[in-house]
Amino acid sequence: MQLHISPSLRHVTVLPGKGVRDFIKVKVGSRRVSYLMIFYSLLFVTFLLRLVFVLTAMDAIDGETKCSSLEEKAINGEALEAPDVPQSLDDFVAEMKSNRPDAKTFATRLKATVSLLERKTRAAKIQEYLYRHVASSTMPKQLHCLALRLANEYFGNAGARLQVPAPERVPALVDNSYHHFVLASDNVLAASVVATSLVRNSLRPATVVLHVITDRKTYAAMHAFFSLHPLEPAVVEVKGLHHFDWFARGRVPVLEAMEKDRNVRSQFRGGSTAIAASTTEKPYVVAAKLQALSPKYNSVMNHIRINLPELFPNLNKVVFLDDDVVVQADLSPLWDIDLQGKVNGAVQTCTGDDKFVMSKRLKSYLNFSHPVISRNFDPDECAWAYGMNIFDLEAWRKTNISNTYHYWLHENLKSDLSMWQLGTLPPGLIAFHGHVHIIDPYWHMLGLGYQENTSLAEAEKAAVIHFNGRAKPWLDIAFPQLRQLWTKYVNFSDRFVRACHIRAS
Ligand SMILES: *[C@@H]1O[C@H](CO)[C@@H](O)[C@H](O)[C@H]1NC(C)=O
Ligand SMILES: *[C@@H]1O[C@H](CO)[C@@H](O)[C@H](O)[C@H]1NC(C)=O
Ligand SMILES: *[C@@H]1O[C@H](CO)[C@@H](O)[C@H](O)[C@H]1NC(C)=O
Ligand SMILES: *[C@@H]1O[C@H](CO)[C@@H](O)[C@H](O)[C@H]1NC(C)=O
Repeated sequence: MQLHISPSLRHVTVLPGKGVRDFIKVKVGSRRVSYLMIFYSLLFVTFLLRLVFVLTAMDAIDGETKCSSLEEKAINGEALEAPDVPQSLDDFVAEMKSNRPDAKTFATRLKATVSLLERKTRAAKIQEYLYRHVASSTMPKQLHCLALRLANEYFGNAGARLQVPAPERVPALVDNSYHHFVLASDNVLAASVVATSLVRNSLRPATVVLHVITDRKTYAAMHAFFSLHPLEPAVVEVKGLHHFDWFARGRVPVLEAMEKDRNVRSQFRGGSTAIAASTTEKPYVVAAKLQALSPKYNSVMNHIRINLPELFPNLNKVVFLDDDVVVQADLSPLWDIDLQGKVNGAVQTCTGDDKFVMSKRLKSYLNFSHPVISRNFDPDECAWAYGMNIFDLEAWRKTNISNTYHYWLHENLKSDLSMWQLGTLPPGLIAFHGHVHIIDPYWHMLGLGYQENTSLAEAEKAAVIHFNGRAKPWLDIAFPQLRQLWTKYVNFSDRFVRACHIRAS
């Protein structure tokens, strides 16, 4: 026997078995909370409430009841916890029809129903925020498939284990006459798009060296991908974090900080149960606090850029790319920008036509109610962006930026994440404070993962576009009109891509 449940949960189809043509279709009531339904119900209820006011006013005049006792009951939650509260407006109407209650009972029952519906809406709202978070932070099964197939290839096919780059190209890796790019990622498909778009749009690809850094679990797949898909004449290197001397040498501040971070986060604000139990905070605040517990924001791939000078001791200057960007122009002019002694060339994020994306100041990231933050920083100072940064490693080595970063990570952990809660940008804003040179916005366009209104024409003009935000181009929730800017660098005829059913739309 087979059971089919329709996506709307309205129909359950029972197939009695092979060869039997008939089937039984059972219609069941939808148990899902539909926002539209709740919206209309509340509208209807508002309308009904006027009636209730009239009725209770009449009651009050009669001296039989007082509005306040009704209010109190609802606030104390007595009415809410009554197990026999009608679960929907339909139930309520049915009950009223069959019982024909007096005005007082009518009002009490209605209030209880409304409160219950409000709680349901609230719970649904929190859930919606969290679903969006989950949708953006879990890896789709196609990408898992790709990583597995490539890893399998690595272990089963010598061609996928070829050294990358080929031995004769190795000297380029430490040669400062090349243009060095660094990409840290555990997502093979995303890394392939960054690499392909970078090389394809370069006017002199033979001068491009791309250093791909990945973690231990993704290493085999990443290596296999780039050895089977060389981007010649560019030089691509694939390295696991465990391959770096500096990493193997022992004390690694970023890993220590991450371990502490994990412990603090799991205890943060009493843990997830305590956060979710709050009934007074706005749903998005509750969802944001729950998000802060997510390991996504504690990824070594995100923190690792703070150690670029140690990871690449021979290099003078690198451009660091996030894995949710697409390169659309030749980036070699970035090497001609005079950083004026600063360490980090970045676009700023508080001026521009798009007021939604370009509205980020320090107060958008740091908690200025915290005395240590307000004493040291200006809330209205413009912020800048990670995603495409030019780092002058020589200048960096003369500063204390990496120590400052780790100092503030620890301070924030000590204060129970009260200086900032999410991401690696807030400590970056602090550590690079005074070390940033602002570059032209042409070089790095932000917001393609959360500004749905970005036009294709605007996005096409930028040298680098950045899908920061939830709507990553490799997810179903990507904005369809912008996704093509990313998919055009995926080779959908590739056998691995095809085998994992990765499609253009
Ligand atoms: C870096 O920090 C050390 C100790 O905290 C200090 O002695 C040194 O002057 C600082 N260097 C710079 C360039 O700020
Ligand atoms: C901001 O800092 C203040 C003072 O330390 C603290 O009471 C408050 O909870 C912090 N806000 C957040 C959102 O962490
Ligand atoms: C997108 O455009 C619509 C219509 O012009 C506007 O109402 C909406 O506020 C815009 N959204 C953002 C986030 O800018
Ligand atoms: C895409 O993949 C196919 C099959 O491997 C290959 O023949 C073709 O050259 C690739 N196209 C590009 C643009 O790399």
